[in-house]
Amino acid sequence: MKAIILVGGQGTRMRPLTLDLPKPLLPIANIAFITRQLLWLKQYGIYDVVLSLCYLPDQFVEYFDKNPIENMKISYIVEDSPLGTGGAIKYSAGEIQDSVIVCNGDVLTEIDLQELIDLHNSKNSLATIALTKVEDPSAFGVVPTNADRQVVAFVEKPSKQNAPSHWINAGIYVLSKDFLDIIPEGIQVSIERETFPKAILQGSLYALESDEYWLDIGTVDKYIQAHTYILNKLSSTSNNETYREVSNNIFSDGAVDLGKDVVVLSKCLLGDGTKIGDNTILDNVTIGKNVEVSKNVKIINSVIYDGAVINSDVNIYDSIIGNNALISEGVSLSELCVIGSNEKLAPGESLVAKRVPSNE
Ligand code: GTP
Repeated sequence: MKAIILVGGQGTRMRPLTLDLPKPLLPIANIAFITRQLLWLKQYGIYDVVLSLCYLPDQFVEYFDKNPIENMKISYIVEDSPLGTGGAIKYSAGEIQDSVIVCNGDVLTEIDLQELIDLHNSKNSLATIALTKVEDPSAFGVVPTNADRQVVAFVEKPSKQNAPSHWINAGIYVLSKDFLDIIPEGIQVSIERETFPKAILQGSLYALESDEYWLDIGTVDKYIQAHTYILNKLSSTSNNETYREVSNNIFSDGAVDLGKDVVVLSKCLLGDGTKIGDNTILDNVTIGKNVEVSKNVKIINSVIYDGAVINSDVNIYDSIIGNNALISEGVSLSELCVIGSNEKLAPGESLVAKRVPSNE
């Protein structure tokens, strides 16, 4: 079976990080998100994947040239202009004559794909959607079902009070050839707003409610949460990734240099060549390769990309620092600050909930 991954979006909510890197190529715990998604597909025997591209397409080609995945065939379809989710699927599916797996390119999950495929086959449905339960469904497509797992409605972004259930579209589908045939060609189409409702009218849209881990990584707070999930799974005894516990609660796949009196309050991941200065406190932190952290620094619940330089007496809470950014002495960041690649913050700057450069 083939899979199509939709990765053409601009990732506006993750700017400025997505100004020079598409959202699926942003690292999650030092591995590009798209690689994690492809490895999840591979677990279910999916080896042939089409990436549906639109925004910064060359970045994907370049990335997979350098970082191929063993036994996986990756092809690229590039839209001239955004075709929306349905239009992009139609365009990417081309001559596919079989059912196809389709995934949004921003969902970190352990949903059982085989269970979804089995349900699709047993119902012989036009399309079968994975559902996940969230506390507040108002930012998502809510998908109520009946006892036979048939979808009875598709309610995009309802208010919290009017949501018919807490089960939302998880952005993972099995679509039959007949379903692909009802998507019009060459125009912008939303699969959620236009095509799924058509399949409901035909009584042939089914859904699998899954309690497995699922997170849409498309906002800064969720992106940081995804790191926490991966960090919590690191263990000195049962690693299936290549990390070793180089010091208590510090994991790395390379050589790191830890100063004196470094306090590590929970699991942290450090890339090769990273140096941590004396009297530094780290708590739930991912740091990329060749990062220099000076002395008396506090980094809590944050993500630091490759090559960043963090000078002394800096405090970073709940924030993301882009590649090669320079955070000068005495800077303080909190409440989901995002500092773009190569940006420089002046000594003593104190930013709360700010993006640099700003989105305006
Ligand atoms: P925001 O701009 O922050 O909303 O992010 P986004 O651009 O990723 O949009 P959204 O999260 O709604 O998109 C869900 C998935 O569909 C992502 O994996 C996108 O890459 C993808 N996507 C959205 N629109 C298009 C499109 O027009 N073409 C293609 N190929 N993919 C799309």
